[in-house]
This record gives sequence, C-alpha cells and structure tokens, in this order.
Amino acid sequence: MTERVVDVQDAWRERGLVDDAKYREMYEASVSDPETFWGEHGKRIDWMTPFTKVKDTSFAPDNVSIKWFEDGKTNVAHNCIDRHLETRGDQVAIIWEGDDPNDDKHITYKELHGEVCRWANVLKNRGVEKGSRVILYLPMIPEAAYAMLACARLGAIHAIVFGGFSPDSLASRIKGCEAKLVITADEGLRGGRKVPLKANVDEAIKRLDDASVDHVVVVRRTGGNVTMEAGRDVYYDEAAKEVTDDCPAVPVEAEHPLFILYTSGSTGQPKGVVHTTGGYLVYAAMTHEYVFDYHEGDVYWCTADVGWVTGHSYIVYGPLANGATTLMFEGIPTYPTNGRFWEVVDKHKVNIFYTAPTAIRSLMGGGEAPVKKTSRKSLRVLGSVGEPINPEAWEWYYKVVGDERCSIVDTWWQTETGGILITPLPGATKLKPGSATRPFFGVQPVMVDAEGKELDGKCEGNLCIKDSWPGQMRTVYGDHERFEQTYFATYKNLYFTGDGARRDEDGYYWITGRVDDVINVSGHRMGTAEVESSLVAHKKVSEAAVVGYPHNVKGQGIYAYVTLNEGEEGDDALRKELVAWVRKDIGPIASPDLIQFSPGLPKTRSGKIMRRILRKIAEDDFGSLGDTSTLAEPAVVEDLIENRQNRA
Ligand code: PRX
Repeated sequence: MTERVVDVQDAWRERGLVDDAKYREMYEASVSDPETFWGEHGKRIDWMTPFTKVKDTSFAPDNVSIKWFEDGKTNVAHNCIDRHLETRGDQVAIIWEGDDPNDDKHITYKELHGEVCRWANVLKNRGVEKGSRVILYLPMIPEAAYAMLACARLGAIHAIVFGGFSPDSLASRIKGCEAKLVITADEGLRGGRKVPLKANVDEAIKRLDDASVDHVVVVRRTGGNVTMEAGRDVYYDEAAKEVTDDCPAVPVEAEHPLFILYTSGSTGQPKGVVHTTGGYLVYAAMTHEYVFDYHEGDVYWCTADVGWVTGHSYIVYGPLANGATTLMFEGIPTYPTNGRFWEVVDKHKVNIFYTAPTAIRSLMGGGEAPVKKTSRKSLRVLGSVGEPINPEAWEWYYKVVGDERCSIVDTWWQTETGGILITPLPGATKLKPGSATRPFFGVQPVMVDAEGKELDGKCEGNLCIKDSWPGQMRTVYGDHERFEQTYFATYKNLYFTGDGARRDEDGYYWITGRVDDVINVSGHRMGTAEVESSLVAHKKVSEAAVVGYPHNVKGQGIYAYVTLNEGEEGDDALRKELVAWVRKDIGPIASPDLIQFSPGLPKTRSGKIMRRILRKIAEDDFGSLGDTSTLAEPAVVEDLIENRQNRA
C-alpha cells in the first residue's frame, strides 16, 4: 500500500503561525540552544519575579532532577485571568454547554475573575493555603475551572479525580495526597443520567479510618437530595455569601506544584504525577497556540474531561493563559442525538475542535447523515489525542467532518509530559493519516531497541525522549524513587515513555501503542494490574490475568482470564457478577469486556505468567504463539484456545 500524504493546503500555510521552513529553523534553535530558546519563550507568561536561570535538569538514573525557570515567581491564575482583564475583560473566557442542549452559559474574563476570587476566599476560610492539597470530584461544569484556578491562586495543589471513578478509587487518592478539603457536586449529569457524586464522596471518606478531610464543599448541580454532615459539609452557594470577590494571587516559585494527577502504570497503585507552575504553564500555553494554530478571537473546544490531563492543559490552563475562548461540554457525543458535537460546533461557531479517536469511531457507526446535516463552516483545525488514530477514522474525520478543508493534528503526549510532544503544526507539516508526525520545539525523540541501543533513521523500537522540556512531570508525589525507577531506570539518561513507535524515512513517528502492561481503553489509561487485583479480591476468584485486545470502537478492550477457587462454577451469571464487582471497585472504565474462565494460566517453570501467550489468544491469533517451550504445563494453553471468548 502506498502511503497517503496530505499536503499543507495554501489556506493553512497562509494563516499558519509557522510554515515548514520556520518550523525547521525554530526546532533547530530549540534543541541546539535550549537555554536561549526557552529563555525567550519563558517570557510568554507574566512573572512577578523574573527568572534568571532557565534550565537545570538531569536524567541521571538515581539523581533525576528537573527544574525550569527556578528562581522566578509567578501565579497561574494571574496568568490565566488577571493579566487579560485590561485588554479582554469583556471577552468570553468560557462557553459552557450543558448536557441538555438548551442549557448554556457564557462567562467573560471579568466574571471569571470574580468567580475564582470568591472560590479562593471560600477555600481560604476553610484553611486552604499554599501547599494544601485539595481533591476535586466534579462534573464538567464551570465550577470545575473556577475551583482549579482558585487553588492555583492560593498556591494550593489540586488533585482532580475523574467523576467516573468509584468511592474506593477516590478514597485511595484522598489518602495518597492527604487532602484536607474535597470539592464535589450533589450529582453529575451526563447523557441525561445522574451520577451520585456527593454520595460517592461520603462513601470514600467513610472507608478511610483516619480521614484527613475536614471540609467538603458541594456545588448544587441537579438540586438532588444529598446528606450533608454538619460541621464538615457546606453548599458552595451558601459559603460564597460570606466572602468578597477580591482575593490577591499568591506569587509562588516556578517549581511550586500546581497539581497532582493520578495515572495508571504497569505495576501497583496509580501514581500521583506532579506538575509544577512555571514550566508547565509556558509549555501548555505555547503548545496550545502553535499546535492548534490559535489566533486571537478563535473559539476553541476540547471535548476531554477535566479529570484527565487533556482537560487540565487544553481546556483550562493553555487556552486561558492565551486569553482564548474555551468551550467546556458537560455531556456526551451521542446525547440527545449522535449529531451533538456538530450541532454544538454550529451553535457556538467553533473554529478549533479537539477530541479522541474513540469518539470519532463511535460516531462513524452512525453514518454521515448526522454530520452532513450541520454546516461546520466555522471549523478550521481538528485535533486527535489519547490513542493511535487508525487511518480509516482519520480519513472520516478529514473528509466527513472537515470536508477536506480542515487540517488534522494527531497529537501524541502523556499525563507525564504535561503537554503535546509529537504533532503536526497546521501551517507547516505534511500529514500522513495515522502518524503523529514530528516533534514539537525542544523535544528530542530517541528510538531504542530492547537492549537500549539507539536506532538511526527508519526503524521500529521503544520511544524515549532525550533531555527535558518545560512541561515535564517533576516527580511522583511522595515517592521520587518510584519516579526514577519508572521512567529513567530502563534506558540510561533517557526518559522512557512506555510506548512503542516506528520512525519512517521522513523522520515521522507512528506510535504503535504501549509496550508495558498498560492498556488504553477508549483513550483512558488502565493498568492491567489494577483490574487483576480487583478481580482477585472477589471471594470466588483464585487468580486473574488481564490483557488488552483490539476493539473496533474502544481501541482496546479488556480481556480477563480468571481462575476460580475449587468448587466454584464459571458461568454467565458469575461473569456479570465480576463485571459489576470491578465497576464498583474501580469504576465503569475498568469493566472487563470479555471474561474467560480457565482452570490454569500459562506460566513459566519459575511461576511467571506468560502474558505474550494470553495476548495472542485474546487477539484470536493463536497460530503464532511463539516459543512455548518454557511453559510449565503446556496443556493449559490448549484449554485456553479451546475456550477463548474472542472468536473472529
Ligand atoms: O500510549 C500513548 C497514548 O496514550 C498514552 C498516554 O495516556 P494518558 O497519560 O492517559 O494521556 C492521554 C492524553 C495525553 C500514551 O503513552 N496516546 C496518547 N496520544 C496518542 C497516543 N497514542 C497514539 N497517538 C496519540 N496521538
């Protein structure tokens, strides 16, 4: 098959912030002299104390230390709000589109300032100060952005927990960062269905013997009935009556933590990824401007949830630092109809739209009609994030949604990277459907083989990054050693991404997916170990192994092999029970799609589960199981194949 190349259209180049020559020139400057490059671009935000040092970073395996702009002081909320007041106080900062199509709101920068100050004062009255940790467990309502910015204003550190996580998952995150205050809503509303957020918070706190939580602030979203514990819980609207809308932004060091965000890895409990203030904001704002080719006055919409890093960097911090109008959507792509995205695009005249391949694939199933019914004339740039976009979905996005008129940016990055690392730039980069293309300024991808040998030119291997960029995570909260071990111990002096990739003859990167025990379900990252430990906690389960398999809509589905205790019967009723168990334990995003009961799992003689074999069987590709000579009991494999769930 010849590879399709989509040239940069004249209109993209003319409007683009950079063309190909400029990209090459800036890229070269950024990697040959990062100090000068970032010293200059570091000034795109306001500094209360200007920095004199730009970069002090080391990837030495047992002494990883990452500092950017370290002697500068600034405040993220000041940069996202206050500095815009003079020039664009009356411009809309946030367009909120509710779950119900008749529900929306426009919030100007001036209004945002008032709301955030009031929120900051409510938090301050409850003991929140610089360095305090605050958990946010909220639906996609403007209050989520207010609360994030209020924390930033005070120098407090927010840790957002996605509203789809269970009370147990919430509890472990509250405990992990010893949060004193939790912000939630009575209930969330998605696709017409209510989510019992406050009840989940109550459950979570109850589960912690020694809960650090002194206060729960509750936003009224649905007005649903919830239990309020006297002395601990307060409705936000009542607390807000007691405060003014004046609250100065606290200057903090560039390396002061801005947020913690928990993410899944290949082992153990989710890690608290720590991002700091100065470098993160510079990087989020700069990538938002260049990658989406953002121009003054554009309406920009990222469909992610603020519970994920995409929501942090590209709904709130990047766009607002740039003084953009950012759209926040409470609902889902298929409610009330599967034309909702495009109706919202027309309603608010969206110019830049950023979503995940899984959403595109699910809408493809509904055909072209719901798209073609809408105009989408305002659209100019279409972004993709979260997982590899298959060429078929890319073409549909390009042709059906974008009418072959919009550029597509397939952006590769991670919670750990803080912002986009590999991506096309609309005015500069020829596109190849399925490739994230070239590195952003300052990013030096390196391909290595399993032994850590650096590969040249066209190759396939593991993707690492040489040298730091300002948006990089700084540590794992409370466990710097885990940070070093996870990302810097595999390949010397390199940051290891956990992704495999291919580099083609043009130097373009094609991300092939995770090479560790992390799976990507509908763009959501899940550790197979987490699902396994949930399954084995069930009283009928003796052992479990979880792998991913290709899924038409979700990208990857969750395939669980389960060995039951003596005397237990594996049937459909128990399958349902186990799915419900995992949903309750971790959250709906972790529900196994397929469960296979098996009398045993394939193990080496030393007792290690051979996941390679389990993956092949789950993919229904058992003709090529590879070397099985180290199996302790070869008969186990025959049974697994015989009773496989995923038959092509
Ligand atoms: O495997 C890569 C995949 O998502 C992982 C990161 O997940 P998370 O930290 O949840 O962040 C998602 C949003 C930034 C990566 O290791 N991934 C993300 N974007 C892409 C991607 N894979 C291929 N192409 C992408 N554009």
